[in-house]
Amino acid sequence: MEFQELLPKRRMVRHYAPEPVSRETIERIVGTVRRAPSAGYSQGQRLLVVTEPERRAKIARIMDESGWTTPDDREPWLESAAVHVLVCTREDDYHERYTQEDKLAQTGGKEIDWPVPFWFVDAGAAVMMLLLAAIDEGLAAGLTGVEGAAAEEIRAAFGVPDDVTIVALVTIGVPAPDPGWSAVTSRRTKPRRADSVRWEHWTG
Ligand SMILES: Cc1cc2nc3c(=O)[nH]c(=O)nc-3n(C[C@H](O)[C@H](O)[C@H](O)COP(=O)(O)O)c2cc1C
Repeated sequence: MEFQELLPKRRMVRHYAPEPVSRETIERIVGTVRRAPSAGYSQGQRLLVVTEPERRAKIARIMDESGWTTPDDREPWLESAAVHVLVCTREDDYHERYTQEDKLAQTGGKEIDWPVPFWFVDAGAAVMMLLLAAIDEGLAAGLTGVEGAAAEEIRAAFGVPDDVTIVALVTIGVPAPDPGWSAVTSRRTKPRRADSVRWEHWTG
């Protein structure tokens, strides 16, 4: 699909049809992480792909227990998605990379003062790859943050190592109508900002 065709289709979809997604399709989607940029080529992004129904149900249960992913009057979100991808980052990859000889030679012999946490920037880039790749495959995707207690429960249940941070949960599947969610999503209730992009000088 051409980018200009794909872009208008990009939105969070929070309900999916009960149709499977093939292993090959999932592999193509998650394989895009290898094309995502990463600071210093640290490649700190990690994805945990969960497809087995019982495991997905476990994530849905943990997230619902945190109380907000599927309120009663909306379509089931997490439990309807054929694929869950936990997008994670390993911060230590960045410290390890930026204390290698070539980096230290550029930065006066010590690790840089991080202007922003590049490990989260890169996780965001990986998220975007997944969201767009899913659409390219004729599917849809959604994204939810994973609140602290839920993240810790998922960590314990799925063996996520202590040095890996869970950044977000991306859901992927065959789209189904999600009018309940669409009615409340801020995207429908708020206009897009007009001042996101500025030119030449902040105040013009
Ligand atoms: C970091 C991040 C966290 C988000 N967390 C949630 C969430 O917890 N629940 C949810 O319904 N949507 C979540 N979203 C989706 C946003 O609400 C959504 O992107 C925004 O309303 C714009 O809608 P659109 O993506 O459909 O254009 C999140 C998006 C991002 C980027």
